[in-house]
Amino acid sequence: MSGSNEQTWATTAMRTDLCGALRRDDVGRTVSVCGWVQSRREHGEHLAFIDLRDHTGVVQCVVDGAHDLRSEYVLRITGTVRPRPEGTDNPNLPTGEVEVGDCTVEVLSRAEPPPFPIDGRGDVDEQHRLRHRYVDLRSERMQRNLRLRARVNHAIRNAMDAQGFVEVETPMLIASTPEGARDFVVPSRLSPGAFYALPQSPQLFKQLCMVGGVDRYYQIARCLRDEDLRADRQFEFAQLDAEASFVSQADVQAFISEAVAAATEAVTGERPTVFPSMTWLEAMERFGSDKPDTRFGMELVELTERFSATEFNAFKAPCVKGICVPGGGDKTRKQLDDLTEQAKRWGAKGLVWMRVGAGGELTSPVAKFLSEGELAGIVEATGAAEGDLVLIVADERPRVRHVLGLLRLELGRPPVTEGGLQFLWVVDFPLFEALDEAGLPIPAHHPFTMPHDEDVALLDTGDPQDLLTVRSQAYDLVCNGWELGSGSVRIHRPDVQARIFALLGISDEEANAKFGFLLEAFRYGAPPHAGFAFGIDRLVALLAGEENIREVIAFPKTQSGQDPLTKAPTAIDARHLTELGLRVLPKVD
Ligand code: AMO
Ligand code: AMP
Repeated sequence: MSGSNEQTWATTAMRTDLCGALRRDDVGRTVSVCGWVQSRREHGEHLAFIDLRDHTGVVQCVVDGAHDLRSEYVLRITGTVRPRPEGTDNPNLPTGEVEVGDCTVEVLSRAEPPPFPIDGRGDVDEQHRLRHRYVDLRSERMQRNLRLRARVNHAIRNAMDAQGFVEVETPMLIASTPEGARDFVVPSRLSPGAFYALPQSPQLFKQLCMVGGVDRYYQIARCLRDEDLRADRQFEFAQLDAEASFVSQADVQAFISEAVAAATEAVTGERPTVFPSMTWLEAMERFGSDKPDTRFGMELVELTERFSATEFNAFKAPCVKGICVPGGGDKTRKQLDDLTEQAKRWGAKGLVWMRVGAGGELTSPVAKFLSEGELAGIVEATGAAEGDLVLIVADERPRVRHVLGLLRLELGRPPVTEGGLQFLWVVDFPLFEALDEAGLPIPAHHPFTMPHDEDVALLDTGDPQDLLTVRSQAYDLVCNGWELGSGSVRIHRPDVQARIFALLGISDEEANAKFGFLLEAFRYGAPPHAGFAFGIDRLVALLAGEENIREVIAFPKTQSGQDPLTKAPTAIDARHLTELGLRVLPKVD
């Protein structure tokens, strides 16, 4: 074969070349291309320009004679590559210098008019796109995203393999896993009344693999969680799931950083070299979030000390913090009132706003309640300059951080495609995130997470507040404000595990019923081990510059958990129900 076409693998019994690959070097060659009719322009009765599209792009074919060739017909066109006539080049198209002439056209399939245009122009309702996903997948955007995802998976597999990890497939029909979401369940026909759970993650199996001497396990694992769907959540998603024996937290972070760097390089051509770390506490204090978006500033500024003797009632609180919104001083009164209402919906008692004028003078409805020293202190601490806006919240510390963290995102967060990829390890998570109504601690990760060596004594003081200060050996990987993944050093000592279960209010019977097999396995020689899992859908979305993970999943569910294409979930027939020993109750509204 002559010409510049290096994609010889693309040659099949039906085609010699891919549509998007033809170039000036191919001029003179006789080629066969296959694909879909992207568009058709008539030139008189006997000449038509067909843009033929496959996954690599579009090529113009000049077809003589009358043909009934409509949008999305599937064609095989054989012809000769020639330069386009003088002045008709299309510089916007990689194939824009050439066309295929003297064409013979075979119609391989006719097509009904497409339900929506495929060229990416115009906003198509998502329901409609998913209803005809097979058509939507032909779009440049979906082709790019699917291929990008495949490259990411490939790079991850290579990186894990190169680091000595063994791919082990774990079962889909299992007993419940403790990830904290609701299980999807599958009724058992052979054991009527009993159910399998679909895995929320392979957590317990990967720990069993460690007891089983696998040493380093990984899997691109399908996980299922019945939780409310959002832009970064689907019922079904994929994780790079990994676990290793005889390792430290730093080892695991290095393995995972390597996989993420390889995946990023495979897509962007650039390898991120540093993955900085920040403690959970620092992230909460500076960004008001355990997944800080470090692409922009507007950090939370500590003001508590400055108001320790204030006369202003609203600021007589355990914590006072503020943010400075650069250039935010031009917000209207209405916008500031809306912001205050929003802050209240997020849990604040109120919101103080201050516009910064010339010379650092602050204008605010509450300025009259503050001393000159306090006003000057706000300007000094926030570094606010003329034209900026300062927002201040006073309350219990966690609430202040939460509300200001959300305001910061609301007012400063760049679009997903801007600011590059800012990876960040968040370390030293608390072991427990809060106390529940019964006063029992709620694990921040899962109950198999090892407490920090230095904090173990705090488990036994008897004061529930002490429990909330216990750090764990848990760590998250964050990127641009998204939680990409989580992991921890695991408890491998039965005595420590028993202690944690007791603190969580999990009785011996319950622990045995739920995780007895794991506790039993640990009695037979458990190596110290640690692991991690990150969401592949989320990483791919960030790399693709997509706001919603649905755009990087071939067949996702809608926000309400439906598949408009196959109509899942659907009813099953009575015979099937009987076989499974099930009866469906009438709907209650
Ligand atoms: P975790 O529950 O934090 O940890 O999940 C790890 C990562 O999986 C991704 N993820 C999701 N992605 C899309 N849709 C969802 N519904 C969804 N839920 C989770 C996120 C998340 O950070 N077994 C532990 C890991 C470990 O300790 O090794 C686990 O699953 O990116
Ligand atoms: P009040 O004393 O409730 O009339 O509030 C006076 C001003 O302070 C209003 O602008 C409130 O929005 C604001 N404010 C009240 N409580 C707080 C708080 N805890 N933190 C920040 N601002 C507050």
